[in-house]
Amino acid sequence: MNKFLTMIIVAAFVAVAASAQTPAWNDIKGEQLIALQTKGDPARGQAAFEPCEGCHRKDASGRTSGAYPRLSGQHGTVLIKQIADIRAGRRINPKMEPYIDDHALTPYEIADIAAYLQGLPISAENGKGPGAGVAAGKQIYDKDCATCHGPGGEGSAAQFYPMVAAQHYRYLLREMEFIRDGDRKNSNPEMVKVIKPYTNSELETVADYLAQLAPPKK
Ligand code: HEC
Ligand code: HEC
Repeated sequence: MNKFLTMIIVAAFVAVAASAQTPAWNDIKGEQLIALQTKGDPARGQAAFEPCEGCHRKDASGRTSGAYPRLSGQHGTVLIKQIADIRAGRRINPKMEPYIDDHALTPYEIADIAAYLQGLPISAENGKGPGAGVAAGKQIYDKDCATCHGPGGEGSAAQFYPMVAAQHYRYLLREMEFIRDGDRKNSNPEMVKVIKPYTNSELETVADYLAQLAPPKK
């Protein structure tokens, strides 16, 4: 092969590899980077969380109806990413926007809130599913989801994978449908691919399984 052509091919590979390193779902920059690099202060975070308690509750356990997710015990990195994504409009959440937009919170306060929430105990009293789908849901989860979200649904702080165990059933189900149907635009494309083929009733079994798991120990 001629040397010039080889060079072009190599350059093309390098360009593809470089763009693969900053996937859009997790392009860490700007305020998200600032918040991630800040060592959050849990005491300041507790004070900054007060306006959030009306929806997410004082103990950050959310609502068993699933209208509001549990935030307590969630990985700080995940909380920071999700707040940054909501602020950037990648995840639509009009009810919450006035409370978390950049007039309401600085990146430093986001870091404080994340430090506070990730240290809170997880309430076991979450919204459960019907229970009949647990076995079928476990099969799907172990096959297609556990590689990222962990065998016990514990997620990964380093990789920005949310803890999904012991979350409210209805919230889990809603988010799975948003992710599958493209309504949650910050989603890791690998996840969208694996979740695409599943029907609503199959996703119900996965949510059923996850909601009844014990909160992961940290
Ligand atoms: C008016 C009600 C309301 C208030 C107040 C509110 N939130 Fe939320 N929050 C929601 C709803 C609803 C969702 C779930 C949206 C969805 O279904 O995608 C949510 C989701 C979240 C998530 C994503 C959780 C996850 O598992 O991905 C985070 C993080 C969060 N809220 C943090 C906060 C913080 C911090 C505050 C205060 C500064 C706050 N919220 C105030 C309603 C609220
Ligand atoms: C390649 C890794 C990966 C795989 C595989 C994966 N996920 Fe995810 N999942 C993520 C990431 C990353 C997020 C956070 C959203 C984002 O930023 O993309 C997420 C978010 C979620 C959420 C929302 C959690 C919350 O608190 O809002 C649910 C529910 C979920 N995944 C369920 C599933 C299910 C069910 C499967 C299997 C069918 C699955 N995931 C497979 C990486 C993955």
